[in-house]
Amino acid sequence: MRIAVTSSEAVPFAKTGGLADVATGLSRALAAADHEVTLIVPYYPRHVPVDLPCPEIGTTVTVRVGQKVVEAGLRRAELPDSRLRVILVDQPMYFDRPGLYTQQGHDYPDNCERFVFFSRAVLETCVRLDLRPDVIHANDWQTSLLPLLLEVDYRHQSGLKSAGTVLTIHNLAFQGRFWKWDMLLTGLDWKHFNWRQLEFWGDINLLKSGIVTADMITTVSPTYAREICTTEFGCGLETALSHRGEDLVGILNGVDTDVWNPACDHRLARQYSISNVADGKAVCKTDLQRELGLPARHDAPLFGMISRMTEQKGFDLIAATAERHLQHDLQMVFLGTGQSHYENLVRDLASRYPDKVAAFVGFDEGLAHRIEAGADCYFMPSRFEPCGLNQMYSLIYGTVPVVNAVGGLADSVVDATPEAIADGSGNGFVLSEYSTEALIAQVDRAVDLYHDTPTWQQIVRNGMGRDWSWNQSAARYVDVYRRAHGRHAVPIA
Ligand code: ADP
Ligand code: GLC
Repeated sequence: MRIAVTSSEAVPFAKTGGLADVATGLSRALAAADHEVTLIVPYYPRHVPVDLPCPEIGTTVTVRVGQKVVEAGLRRAELPDSRLRVILVDQPMYFDRPGLYTQQGHDYPDNCERFVFFSRAVLETCVRLDLRPDVIHANDWQTSLLPLLLEVDYRHQSGLKSAGTVLTIHNLAFQGRFWKWDMLLTGLDWKHFNWRQLEFWGDINLLKSGIVTADMITTVSPTYAREICTTEFGCGLETALSHRGEDLVGILNGVDTDVWNPACDHRLARQYSISNVADGKAVCKTDLQRELGLPARHDAPLFGMISRMTEQKGFDLIAATAERHLQHDLQMVFLGTGQSHYENLVRDLASRYPDKVAAFVGFDEGLAHRIEAGADCYFMPSRFEPCGLNQMYSLIYGTVPVVNAVGGLADSVVDATPEAIADGSGNGFVLSEYSTEALIAQVDRAVDLYHDTPTWQQIVRNGMGRDWSWNQSAARYVDVYRRAHGRHAVPIA
């Protein structure tokens, strides 16, 4: 198929979270399966690695955003060992900024304008470069106006007549909700400002417009697909989502195993695989402890956490229980950025327990890999989690996750009961509910089992033994693409 994937972030060009890993990982997997894939992303000059050439291709696109006529250059990039084509939309007024969406914790005030622009620019790019996609795959609120823009303004273009649309929801908590006068930026008639399309409690809601317009909706795990149809997890959009019935499909994210694979991860002190995991991890653990300034201890389990420091990720539970966990002989490392009280909390723990806790407030890709390899356990007690990637990275790296049973965590981590350990499925520790007591109980259990080396090694191997790659999930996306395309395909006479 000819597939155009679009996202507001994609590794290695720019990343704030899992969306960036998924946009590139899925696109590469589809290209490897012989589909003709173009990934279209904004060009953020301050984020693109300096050693990654992104030459201009000598074509521009021009779109109208409100009263402005905005031009953007197009650039291209190639990723090693991939047939994926990447197009970057270069518009410095919107994208040459320090942050992707925020600065010092505050959203850019023109985020609606920036991503309405980008969504239109993606459609223009499809036309200008004659991509003729069978399907256009939008992701999250930033590109979720695209299906409606396509229906209203671009369907007549010959190259877009038979394009199906798919919207993937990576996090329903972010909806792209703006005041109603931003309607003027969309270029759409006010007749679309109604409760069945763009209107949401008097505002416009870009995600909602995609949910009601795209041919197919996916989200990033089967459990989250069910959860978002309930009031508890639906963030006010549960009715719109439930209405889509079988058009809403949950597909668990895969892992880009060229990037996240301890057997060929050159950021590690020692590469390892399931056959030599104990030795490999021991070397990586010592190396990590040295890097963190923690005593090199093998008898004390090391717990890692790499995360946006927000309520979503269960930081309130971590904050309330950390001192209790520290009564054990264990170590902890935190890497992340987010709400300042959580940043201060981990800094404070590190200064009060210098032999037990290390904290890095910032974004560090290399350290993230070394934590996954060097830690024994991984904290991910999320309140909600559409998919979550770090629990899967942990499983691949032989690091046992402690999770709450929601979303993709419920679909990837199986509690290590004696039966589940024996049948090969038990690979982590699952909280019975979202509470401090439940987290304490699982950490106590993890510390206990850590000292039972044969059992621990079996849990580690259970996690490493499963295929976490994109293979299966990419095939599911292709099924969804076919269904979306089928709604517009011109029948062959
Ligand atoms: P989310 O997208 O909700 O933040 P995911 O688990 O899907 O959560 O993905 C988070 C991604 O961002 C992972 O690849 C993780 O390693 C990475 N990440 C998060 N915070 C940091 C950080 N401070 N430094 C490096 N990588 C980080
Ligand atoms: C979002 C979700 C996370 C998911 C990621 C990639 O950021 O919070 O759970 O793994 O998107 O789909």
